[in-house]
Amino acid sequence: MSTSVIILAAGKGTRMRSSLPKVLQPLAGRPLLGHVIETAKKLHANNIITIYGHGGHLVQSAFAHEKVQWVEQAEQLGTGHAVKVTLPVLPQTGQSLILSGDVPCISQDTLQKLLDASANTGIGLVTLTLPDASGYGRIVRKNGQIQAIVEHKDASDTQRQIKEINTGIYCVSNAKLHEWLPKLSNDNAQGEYYLTDIVAMAIADGLQVSSVEPERAFEVEGVNDRVQLAALEREYQADQAKKLMQQGVHLIDPSRFDLRGKLTVGNDVRIDINVIIEGEVELGDHVEIGAGCVIKNTKIASGTKVQPYSVFDSAIVGEDAQIGPFARLRPGAKLANEVHIGNFVEVKNTSIGLGSKANHFTYLGDAEVGAGSNIGAGTITCNYDGANKFKTTIGDAAFIGSNSSLVAPVTIGNGATVGAGSVITRDVADYSLAVERSKQFAKENYPRPQKIKK
Ligand code: UD1
Ligand code: CA
Repeated sequence: MSTSVIILAAGKGTRMRSSLPKVLQPLAGRPLLGHVIETAKKLHANNIITIYGHGGHLVQSAFAHEKVQWVEQAEQLGTGHAVKVTLPVLPQTGQSLILSGDVPCISQDTLQKLLDASANTGIGLVTLTLPDASGYGRIVRKNGQIQAIVEHKDASDTQRQIKEINTGIYCVSNAKLHEWLPKLSNDNAQGEYYLTDIVAMAIADGLQVSSVEPERAFEVEGVNDRVQLAALEREYQADQAKKLMQQGVHLIDPSRFDLRGKLTVGNDVRIDINVIIEGEVELGDHVEIGAGCVIKNTKIASGTKVQPYSVFDSAIVGEDAQIGPFARLRPGAKLANEVHIGNFVEVKNTSIGLGSKANHFTYLGDAEVGAGSNIGAGTITCNYDGANKFKTTIGDAAFIGSNSSLVAPVTIGNGATVGAGSVITRDVADYSLAVERSKQFAKENYPRPQKIKK
């Protein structure tokens, strides 16, 4: 059967107290709505229809790259009205999964269960039993069969005792949506068109209403304010951390680990506390990441050890390298195997060959360094003249003395030596020594200045 996904995302989200529309608030680095769209895509939905209202153009442009149909709900007259505005674009046949843009963690598995359970009934719901159900729509059953959903504000005292709630996630036949939605009324406590009223309509039509429960409760948690957003972030992170540990990752403390994207790992990867992984990151076998590192869109090959507080963005690191502490690898940093990058070393758009070392206080930008070279403490590639960037080339087995400035464009040959403190503006030939500094001045028995007496 063809499946459409309808995502309700027109609400204002007033309680976020933010200029950003609620569905664009990030969970694990991705907008709430992005999570829902991603899940819809995994289900191979034939079409994804998103209902927007508040901040519509911002929401649409955030997802300009996605194949989503947008339908405007100019006035928010209730969840039933929201789905009703999709009818002009909703197919007559097939079924629709109805999701909320602010319920980001609903899983593919739970939705698949819902689709299976609804296949023969025409309508199905995801419900959940909560110790405190107040505020939610309640599931009214008779002899175990669902009869209706009653909103908290419309519920009687007895109905308010019901612990089974409507999570706001449904699967409904499109033919029935076309039939039922135009018949909704707003004669209720909130004066809204309630989508939940279609359940009673289904019963009146002699249909059965099926239901499934989510595997984990946080899947159906909604976000209305920043407190809930932060709480859901922790649950989402805990879930990701658990999956990684089940894959064999040694997380020293899963409650102090954040993944905002996708992490691919080899065997026996160890990650210390307060590490943040962003975008797409790959860590090879036996990689160790020290405390406080931030690693974004980076590949680190087997056996490499990263010391605390190192920051990576779009870097590629080979095997058995040693990075940090306090190293910064910026976009285009490409380190071969066994490279050592030490504290306060910044590498940008630079490739470094096998076993080369830059261990202290160095900037390597727009450079190419061969194998087995040693870059002394405080070396700077002067790659920028204020207008243009130039390249520095350093050969194999070169030795750059401490506190040297290499003014690009410049080439330091294989086996060449640069004396400490040099400002190198001309190429240095293979196996030669270049020193650029004034001769040391000396004066014997030098009388130091004395304090003047007043
Ligand atoms: C709704 C359900 C309730 C359920 C609860 C679960 C109804 C009448 N009630 O209540 O049974 O327990 O969700 O969280 O459906 N929206 C629009 N346009 C509108 C109104 C809402 O797009 O005109 C969107 C909101 O942005 C939100 C979703 O629909 O994403 C749910 O709306 P909300 O107002 O939060 O519904 P509740 O009153 O919480
Ligand atoms: Ca809600």
